[in-house]
Amino acid sequence: MRAPGRIRMLAAAGLALAAFMTGCGDSKPDRAEVAADSAAAAQQAQSLLGAGKAAGGKELFAACQGCHGADGGGMPALNAPTLAGLDAAYLKRQLHNFRTGLRGKHADDTLGAQMAAIAATLPDDAAVDAVVAYIDKLDARRPAATIGGDVKRGADFYSNLCGSCHGPNAEGNALLEAPALAGVDDWYLLRQLTHFRNGVRGVHPQDRHGRQMRIMAPTLPDEAITRDVLAYIGTLKS
Ligand code: HEC
Ligand code: HEC
Repeated sequence: MRAPGRIRMLAAAGLALAAFMTGCGDSKPDRAEVAADSAAAAQQAQSLLGAGKAAGGKELFAACQGCHGADGGGMPALNAPTLAGLDAAYLKRQLHNFRTGLRGKHADDTLGAQMAAIAATLPDDAAVDAVVAYIDKLDARRPAATIGGDVKRGADFYSNLCGSCHGPNAEGNALLEAPALAGVDDWYLLRQLTHFRNGVRGVHPQDRHGRQMRIMAPTLPDEAITRDVLAYIGTLKS
């Protein structure tokens, strides 16, 4: 069933928040303002989605594209990463984690809290599956590299510390449930590594996957080497 009016309104909710976020500069948005605005957008999306059941992936994605882009290619200015090309199982888990408070609850996780507010507007697991199925059909992106470094040194650290789970070419490992890192925005990976290292992500007792990364992130000795690893990942094909 098509509901163009509702789609437009959902898209408007996402865009309104996106417009607000653009004014916030890069990665240090004011927490209170972001929280208030996310809550407002979430509330709007929630009431629009009220009936929920009939919404297909495309309709649901209308609430995402204001930040993640209509093609799922992400919007760095809004701190929203590329979603197109990410593993479906990983996307579902993250949406589930945001929805259940396993991710995005830490006081310093302003952006995670913003995403958690949006994820909460997805009415149920079926909606999560539907929106992820839609994202899964979008063409994978190859995000522009923004982080430079010593690629050779990065390759050494990567293969010693990361490749066993994320795969020799950062293609991910479904059995170990480690997502692909190739094809993910480097600035976003850096933020996540910093969050894992600082205990902002991966600390909830039930966040089994995040806790693995919480242990691994500090094995990268310093920021320079972390950047080398990310520069190396940026050379790998997604
Ligand atoms: C108001 C802007 C905004 C909207 C709208 C939004 N997101 Fe996000 N999303 C973000 C930000 C910012 C992050 C990064 C959070 C972080 O850094 O931890 C994010 C992260 C994510 C992640 C985690 C990706 C990863 O690799 O870990 C997923 C999955 C996601 N969003 C899916 C969605 C879906 C699906 C929708 C629509 C239902 C949506 N988002 C709507 C801003 C938004
Ligand atoms: C023991 C297995 C394991 C090792 C080793 C490992 N990871 Fe991970 N990593 C994971 C798992 C599992 C996740 C998914 C966490 C989740 O679902 O929240 C993950 C998630 C990540 C993420 C978040 C991706 C996103 O889209 O948000 C980054 C970044 C990351 N790993 C980087 C690294 C780097 C760099 C190394 C090497 C220093 C490394 N990982 C080593 C298992 C591992």
